[in-house]
Amino acid sequence: MSEFVVSARKYRPQTFDTVVGQKSITSTLRNAIKNDHLAQAFLFCGSRGVGKTSTARILAKTINCFNRTENIEACDKCESCESFNSGASLNVYELDGASNNSVEEIRNLIDKVRVAPQLGTHKIYIIDEVHMLSSSAFNAFLKTLEEPPQACYFYLSDHGKAQNHPYNIVSMPDI
Ligand SMILES: Nc1ncnc2c1ncn2[C@@H]1O[C@H](COP(=O)(O)OP(=O)(O)OP(=O)(O)O)[C@@H](O)[C@H]1O
Ligand SMILES: [Mg+2]
Ligand SMILES: [Zn+2]
Repeated sequence: MSEFVVSARKYRPQTFDTVVGQKSITSTLRNAIKNDHLAQAFLFCGSRGVGKTSTARILAKTINCFNRTENIEACDKCESCESFNSGASLNVYELDGASNNSVEEIRNLIDKVRVAPQLGTHKIYIIDEVHMLSSSAFNAFLKTLEEPPQACYFYLSDHGKAQNHPYNIVSMPDI
């Protein structure tokens, strides 16, 4: 097998510091981790390719890192970081709202929320294209916000389509 890695993965920023042009967002997120004031749900909105997925993944990894650096970056070496890097983490679920948008699929996912995190402190759900979820699927998701706060939800969406949802909005303007 060749070592070919698609460019979006190869060049995807791996730390808050390497996310370009979104300093106010990354420092807000770092401060929230530092002060232990993390909201339970975040909505990342912004146009295509500004770093929503990248930032959500960095946040997920950093929240669960056992040995964060002084300026709140993931250590990249601990057990949690390694399982995240190898894509084997059972704490981070990524779901594409465009193709898994039925209420059954969301219920499936919600069932996993009730199981405590396997490693680290939080379970993290990254829902891409959240505006594509059916309204019953979305309502099912809203209910999980009543669950114990060891789960964190990041919703990613295009500008405009997601502005009406009542979350901590992390808006990523065009670079
Ligand atoms: N702020 C940024 N700093 C550094 N690289 C970036 C940034 N934004 C995007 N990139 C580059 O573009 C690629 C795609 O970024 P990402 O998937 O995070 O964007 P997105 O906002 O989720 O886009 P989409 O709306 O298409 O899902 C990354 O792999 C990275 O190489
Ligand atoms: Mg994305
Ligand atoms: Zn770590």
